[in-house]
Amino acid sequence: MTHDLRTPLASITASASSLLDEGVPFSGEQRQELLRTILEESERLNRLVGNLMDLSRLRAGALTPSKDAIPFDELTSAVIGRLRPQLAGRSVRVQIRDDIPPVPMDVVQMDQVLTNLIENATRFSPQGTEIVLTAVQWQNQLEVKVADHGPGIPSEERTRVFDEFYRKDVGERRGGTGLGLAIARAIVSAHGGSMWIEDTPGGGTTVGFRLPLTRTEEGAVTGKGGSR
Ligand SMILES: Nc1ncnc2c1ncn2[C@@H]1O[C@H](COP(=O)(O)OP(=O)(O)OP(=O)(O)O)[C@@H](O)[C@H]1O
Ligand SMILES: [Mg+2]
Repeated sequence: MTHDLRTPLASITASASSLLDEGVPFSGEQRQELLRTILEESERLNRLVGNLMDLSRLRAGALTPSKDAIPFDELTSAVIGRLRPQLAGRSVRVQIRDDIPPVPMDVVQMDQVLTNLIENATRFSPQGTEIVLTAVQWQNQLEVKVADHGPGIPSEERTRVFDEFYRKDVGERRGGTGLGLAIARAIVSAHGGSMWIEDTPGGGTTVGFRLPLTRTEEGAVTGKGGSR
């Protein structure tokens, strides 16, 4: 983790020092490049610090979900709408059964879960391949799947990818802070649900999770519908 903090800080310091060095006549293009590095690395740090804060709050139990019953498709549209710029022209095909009752969930937290899963699918699968989000009712639970057609995650890594700081480059795509899936799973668990990885039929990664559709006491799992 120290490395994760130091590397971007070192790039920012080096770029800013270069720009301030009056002895070096940079071209406009070179200045742009250095400024872009500063911006990108700051964004990376910002994201890391945000993720670390979320994770420590989750661990401390301070992020107890504050649940409201929300139609799941409302959440999905909001998240996909907001992510549109990052999707870089790719679309997410959404298939949500219209017989699903409103889901008791913390909207802010579940927004983050979907964001992390869709970001991964976008980052780790090739341009032009489809990303599909499905939601169905399974017994007394909501079952959601985000499927991509990237290289997939080998079965021996499917538990580890949820570990904090576990990340790995996928082809040419660089892993990020390694916290996205850890946070997503912690949030789903705090809702009394579970999360897992499976194959996408035809190849790729599918991340699935289930949430109880029956209202439970905050964070607690009731006998009815709250089982994992
Ligand atoms: N859809 C996917 N396809 C292939 N590999 C994936 C996928 N999602 C996650 N992974 C692998 O699991 C690792 C952990 O994912 P996680 O979301 O926790 O971290 P990250 O995406 O690397 O960084 P962060 O989400 O914190 O920016 C990734 O680095 C990648 O190797
Ligand atoms: Mg991620």
